[in-house]
Amino acid sequence: MWVDAYTDFKLHDICDAADREPLDMNQPQWSDTLRQGNCRFLTKRLWGAANEKPYFHHGLFTTLRQAILAHSGEAKSSRVAFQALPAAERDAVVEFLKTLQVLPPGTKDLVVDERFQPRSWAAAPDAAGQTH
Ligand code: HEM
Repeated sequence: MWVDAYTDFKLHDICDAADREPLDMNQPQWSDTLRQGNCRFLTKRLWGAANEKPYFHHGLFTTLRQAILAHSGEAKSSRVAFQALPAAERDAVVEFLKTLQVLPPGTKDLVVDERFQPRSWAAAPDAAGQTH
């Protein structure tokens, strides 16, 4: 089965000066480089993000929208593009991210509610206005 991970698994600097972590936990304890701080974080896969809150390495964000709005540095253009969308399209991005869930083992239905119970999902009408 093919699963889109939605990440490049690379480190990126997505901080503003104010977001910088004061300690670089990748450096040895007591080293000078420890105190030089860190702005580069692993781009976490978004597959599963919807049921793996809180978000970001510090876990300070409880909503996907907050996480998107916290993108700066190398990811600033993505955040600005998101902010430039009409409200309904911003909501659509968040709703899409909410579909990226890892369902518990044994879940038989692919369309489920927040308790992983089956729910109905109306089919979108085709160009002729018919649902199938
Ligand atoms: C439409 C574009 C994007 C969306 C919707 C998006 C969404 C998200 C979300 C929801 C998270 C939180 C994941 C979690 O904590 O489980 C996240 C984290 C992250 N994203 Fe993005 N992202 C986008 C573009 C980018 C780009 C272009 C970059 C890099 C150039 C990037 C780099 C990162 C990094 C490094 C993290 C982890 C931050 C941390 O752990 O502190 N993202 N993204």
